[in-house]
Amino acid sequence: MTEVATIRLALGENPIAALRKAHREQLLLCDRLEEIADSLPDSVNRQKCLYAARALGPMVRGVHRFEEEVVFPMVAARLEGDDKIQATLNRLRFEHCEDECFAEELTEALHALASAANDINVEATGYMLRGFFEAMRRHLAFEDEYLLSKEALVASDPSSDNDDPPHTP
Ligand SMILES: [Fe+2]
Repeated sequence: MTEVATIRLALGENPIAALRKAHREQLLLCDRLEEIADSLPDSVNRQKCLYAARALGPMVRGVHRFEEEVVFPMVAARLEGDDKIQATLNRLRFEHCEDECFAEELTEALHALASAANDINVEATGYMLRGFFEAMRRHLAFEDEYLLSKEALVASDPSSDNDDPPHTP
């Protein structure tokens, strides 16, 4: 059995605040992946590729499990009057599934870059990297701007005063 790490809440920590923090970490990983894509083909830092390869799968799966097991049921309960919420959550779950498959392929590609494999297709790897982090940023932006900003959720989230600086890639 594969054990999947998820986000552990501190005592009294609001799940929405914890998810916002996890999203910021995911965005930082997207930035690292963009740096790797920009460094292709001649300036690749193999250590960065190795760190990204190790972080990618566990981070993506951990955040997804937390969203699906803790945050989405909470959203569904608080927004039950919204007739589109179930369709939206189902679409987000489907995107999680796609991103996890994509993350597995990308992890292999990052390991190949880290080991400077001879048979690596640099153009395809760059395309794969950009496809992944662009889709991930769009997904996170939607969840942050649409889902986590719903009035019923914001009212219960002490971190929603937006005291965090905006993310810049
Ligand atoms: Fe998500």
